[in-house]
Amino acid sequence: MNTSDGKTLTVPRHVGIIMDGNGRWAERHAFARAAGHKQGAEAFRTLAYYCRDIGMDYLSVYAFSTENWKRDKLEVSAILRILEDYLIEAIEKMAREGLRMRILGDTAPLSERLKRLIGEAHSIADTYEGFTANLCVNYGGRDEILRAAKKAAESGAAFEDCLDTAGLPDPELIIRPGGEHRLSNFMLWQSAYSELYFTDTLWPDFEPADLDAAIVWYNQRERRFGGR
Ligand code: FPP
Repeated sequence: MNTSDGKTLTVPRHVGIIMDGNGRWAERHAFARAAGHKQGAEAFRTLAYYCRDIGMDYLSVYAFSTENWKRDKLEVSAILRILEDYLIEAIEKMAREGLRMRILGDTAPLSERLKRLIGEAHSIADTYEGFTANLCVNYGGRDEILRAAKKAAESGAAFEDCLDTAGLPDPELIIRPGGEHRLSNFMLWQSAYSELYFTDTLWPDFEPADLDAAIVWYNQRERRFGGR
């Protein structure tokens, strides 16, 4: 991709985003928390198309963690409802728009309706190649590692092939908006050599220009992978 001053930048193949700050965004606008999540889903929509257009291969976003069940019931159901609506929309138009939507995480405890929608979205995504947006739902890095270890022990398959991210490159860049500097159980295995970018911008306010800034920063990093 090219910057406005004509420089060529390498776009990471896989970017992970911890979408943080929806609650504070809602509070600042005197809205209910659910409105913050809704606005966060809009920010995701805009960014996913942008990532497709700049030639990224995978965008993985942390939508609902294994720990988020501890939140107020109303907030949990609001997030799961947004996900449902999102999947319905994706099923209808993702093939036309050259975008594949997948869900990573342990889907077993989700509602039958959500599981059916996820199954439908995956079977459509399986029919073509192209940019993939991964929504991590009931996802936790530790839980993923435990599930993968169990599956590998039972099946004899290689450990990495049993992770939710089997077949995907590790994220070269992980972005956390919202001001906190931690991974919060996101892609613990896959982030071993990821570059970590933090910004105070709250997720619902995160725009393509913020991603550009992260990619410019990423291009200034020297990645050594333990070598010198
Ligand atoms: C963290 O912000 C955000 C979440 C726990 C949920 C993220 C979910 C969405 C954006 C909606 C579903 C997503 C898609 C893409 C369909 P927080 O609530 O912890 O914010 P706070 O730290 O300001 O309270």
